[in-house]
Amino acid sequence: MRVLVTGACGMLGRLVCAGLKHEHHVIPTDVLPECEVLNIADTNSVFEVINRVRPEMVIHCAAMTDVDGCERDPDSAYKINAIGTWNIACACASVDASIAYVSTDYVFDGEKGEPYTEFDTPNPISVYGASKLAGEQAVRELCRKYYIVRTSWLFAPHGKNFPLSILRAAETNKQLRIVADQFGCPTYAKDLAAFLVHLVGSPLSGVYHFSNSGCCSWYDFAKGILGEAGKTDVEVLPIKSEDWPTPTRRPMFSVLRHYRMELLGRDGARPWQDAVAEFISEWNTVKQ
Ligand SMILES: NC(=O)c1ccc[n+]([C@@H]2O[C@H](COP(=O)([O-])OP(=O)(O)OC[C@H]3O[C@@H](n4cnc5c(N)ncnc54)[C@H](OP(=O)(O)O)[C@@H]3O)[C@@H](O)[C@H]2O)c1
Repeated sequence: MRVLVTGACGMLGRLVCAGLKHEHHVIPTDVLPECEVLNIADTNSVFEVINRVRPEMVIHCAAMTDVDGCERDPDSAYKINAIGTWNIACACASVDASIAYVSTDYVFDGEKGEPYTEFDTPNPISVYGASKLAGEQAVRELCRKYYIVRTSWLFAPHGKNFPLSILRAAETNKQLRIVADQFGCPTYAKDLAAFLVHLVGSPLSGVYHFSNSGCCSWYDFAKGILGEAGKTDVEVLPIKSEDWPTPTRRPMFSVLRHYRMELLGRDGARPWQDAVAEFISEWNTVKQ
């Protein structure tokens, strides 16, 4: 299949391209000049590229992912996450391409007190979450065949993510203060990329939740990362969200249940601890 990937230079996008290339014709796009340049917020460019390339499917990874940046600059967040996705969805509809849109646990408010299923009603409490939900709505309304894949707490040995920040911080600090009252599901970007590649050509369109299995707090996640990296000399102190003020209100409990895959008998996500072990081993190779 001809598959166009947006945000192909990002943490997830580059793994999606790597996963696709063995079986599909991949067209990587991003704002960066390393691949076909495509600014999703530019309507004319989106239509020009999609009409020229005529993909059968678009895996839409591009987004403004700086959550606090979105809160500070809502216009940019809506321009990229909502209008950008609206552009991609309209252009996909015009060439009858299917679309896989990567969305987020931040569409939920975190008040449910138990894991969120695909059947729960979103209620975002941040600009990032609201702008990504607006993207979901565009995809649902405009595309005949869509996959919306909500994920959370992505990490990889490249890009900007929590585990890399923790490992970097542990090089210069012997004590780290980490929020222990927000809970979610870590997701190894490589596992999510494999899930997205698997959706190519699948007749089972609709909404999915995907993460690694199990859930934890940022504090547990940090302990798991440092333990696996053998950095036992670094002390991790649990703190409350209110002791780590940020511009964004984040959901306190945004654990995603993969209910759809569970009911299909196909939920094969591995535990987050196993993914962290592979991440550390890959990170050790990358940094050498
Ligand atoms: N990271 C997480 O924890 C997380 C959690 C839940 C859901 N997600 C979703 O997963 C997807 C992938 O996330 P990620 O962490 O891989 O993001 P990322 O590393 O920030 O990659 C996103 C890519 O999109 C590019 N981009 C930004 N604005 C663009 C525009 N106007 N046109 C085209 N490309 C643009 C970025 O370029 P620049 O770097 O130059 O801006 C970057 O290369 C996103 O849709 C995100 O919302 C992420």
